[in-house]
Amino acid sequence: MTDKVIGRCIGETSPTMVSFISKKMPRVGEYVSLEYDGKIVLGMIESLIRGSVSITNEIYDPKTIEKIRQIEGDDHYIKGSIKILGDIELLKIPRTPPPPGTEVKIADSNVLKKIFKVEYAPLKLGNLITQEDVEVEVDINKMVTRHLAVLAMTGAGKSNTVAVLVDGLLKMNGSVLIFDMHSEYVNIKFNNGNINTLKPVLNPFYLEFYEFKRLARIPDNAYVQERYLRKAYKLAEKAMRESLVTHNDFLQVIEDQLNKWINDENFDNKDKKSVTDVANKLEYMKDRYGNILDMNASDIIDNLKLKSANVIDLGSVDEYASDVIVSHVMRKVLKKRKDYLRNEEGLKFPIFSIIEEAHILAPNNRPTESKRWISRIAREGRKFGVGLCLVSQSPKSLDSDSLSQANNMIILRLVEPTDQRHVQMASESLSDDLITQLPSLNIGEAIVLGLMTKIPTLVKIDEFKGKMAGGDLDIIGEWDIKIKNEEKRLDDLNQEYKDLGGDY
Ligand SMILES: Nc1ncnc2c1ncn2[C@@H]1O[C@H](COP(=O)(O)OP(=O)(O)OP(=O)(O)O)[C@@H](O)[C@H]1O
Ligand SMILES: [Mg+2]
Repeated sequence: MTDKVIGRCIGETSPTMVSFISKKMPRVGEYVSLEYDGKIVLGMIESLIRGSVSITNEIYDPKTIEKIRQIEGDDHYIKGSIKILGDIELLKIPRTPPPPGTEVKIADSNVLKKIFKVEYAPLKLGNLITQEDVEVEVDINKMVTRHLAVLAMTGAGKSNTVAVLVDGLLKMNGSVLIFDMHSEYVNIKFNNGNINTLKPVLNPFYLEFYEFKRLARIPDNAYVQERYLRKAYKLAEKAMRESLVTHNDFLQVIEDQLNKWINDENFDNKDKKSVTDVANKLEYMKDRYGNILDMNASDIIDNLKLKSANVIDLGSVDEYASDVIVSHVMRKVLKKRKDYLRNEEGLKFPIFSIIEEAHILAPNNRPTESKRWISRIAREGRKFGVGLCLVSQSPKSLDSDSLSQANNMIILRLVEPTDQRHVQMASESLSDDLITQLPSLNIGEAIVLGLMTKIPTLVKIDEFKGKMAGGDLDIIGEWDIKIKNEEKRLDDLNQEYKDLGGDY
C-alpha cells in the first residue's frame, strides 16, 4: 500500500541499522517494514531529526530566515535512523543490508499483532504507544525465570505496572510474593485472585544467627559482642533441640545466659562490658520489635498460597527489621524450592517475588542481609522457579549485580542521567537512541525490553482497573477539606456563642 510509504533509505546501510529520509513525520518507537532481496524486514524508528536544505547553520540573520520561510514555507525534510529487528516471520536479522533507496513503510498492524501475541503463557501489559490498536503481551515463563526490573522516577507508574503484572499472573493461577514497603497492596482488589496478607512477624527460633544478630543491631565489627551472643544463642538452640525449653523461652535462655556471665565474679572483666552491651541490645530489641517478634508464630514462608498475591505488609516496620524479614523470607523461599525439587518437600510451586524500593533493600554501596539473598536469587532463582522483580525509583542506588541479572526491563519515565546510564550498563539492548526517549515518556508509558518480548517496544501500560492505594494525593482537595472543616468549626462556635446570648 503506497499510503504507508513514509520515506526511503539513504547513505550506507547495514543489516542492523539504516538511515532514512522522509517527508512525513513518523514517531520514535514506530515500527516500519522494508522489502528487499525477496524478504520483508521489520525495524523500529529510534531517532528523528528535522531539517531544511536552505535554512542551514551558516545563516546568521533571522531576517534572511524569515524571507526563506516566506518563499519555501515549511519545506522540511525528516531524517531518522531505523534499528532492524529481523524478518517479519522469525525475526531473524537479515544477512544483507537493504539497498539505499529502499522504501520505508509503516509496519502493518496485523504483522505487529501477531508478533506481540504470546501463545503459551501470555500476560497483557498494554498497547503499543505508536499503534494503539496493537495489544502487547509478554511471556510469563520468560519473565519469571529471567527476572524483571521495573524502573522509573517517582509517580511514573511503577506500582500500577506491578498491579497489572500481578493480576495477569493470578489469571494464569500464579503465585506472587510482594514485599509491600508502603502498605500499598494490602487493600488492593485484584480481578483474578485473592490477597493473602502475611503479618510481618518473626519467630526468633526460625532465624539464622546472623539475622538474629542484625535484628539485635550488633555491628559487624563488634567481634566480642558477636562471640558472646553466638555462644548464648547456640546454648538456647541446644536446649530447644533437647526439648529442655519451648519456643516461648528461646529469648529467655539467651538472656539468662548473658546475665549469668555478667553476675559471675570469675568472668573475664574486660569482656563484661561487651556482654552487658549485648544484654542491653537484646532488651532494646524486645522493646522495639515487640510487635514483630512472636515466639509462637509459624514461619512466614509456610503460609504462602497458590493463585494468590501473598503480601507481606512492611509499612510499619523499620528498615532494619524489613531487611531481616526480606532476607529471611528470600533465603527460605530459595531453600524450600531447592528442597522441593530434590525430595518433593518444601515449597511446591514456583513463585514470583516482587521487591518494592529495591534500592533500599539491595543498595549499591553498602552490604545488607537482603542484598545477599536478592543477588543470590537473581543468579540462581531461574533453576528453582524463583522469579525476582526489582522495583526502584533510583536505579543508580540499586545493586548493579542484581540489576544486571534482570534480563527483562520495564522502564517508565526516567529523567536523571546517572539513573539512565546505570540502567543502560545493565542492559545491552537499551540503545543510546532509546535512552533519549526516557524523559519524554508520559505516565504509564514504558520501554519494554528482554526475553519476555520478542522485540523491544514502547508500551502504554494498561491502567489497573482494581482498587489501589498509593496513587497521587489530591493535595488541593485535602487542603480544601481541612479549611472547610475549620471554617465550619468556627461557624459552629460562633453560633453556639450567639445562642448563649453573646454578641460579636
Ligand atoms: N498506565 C497508567 N495509566 C493511567 N494512569 C496511570 C498509569 N500508571 C500510573 N498511573 C497513575 O499515576 C499515578 C502514579 O502511579 P504509581 O503509583 O503507579 O507510580 P509509582 O511509580 O509507583 O510512584 P512511587 O515512586 O511514588 O511509588 C497513579 O495515580 C496512577 O493512577
Ligand atoms: Mg509505587
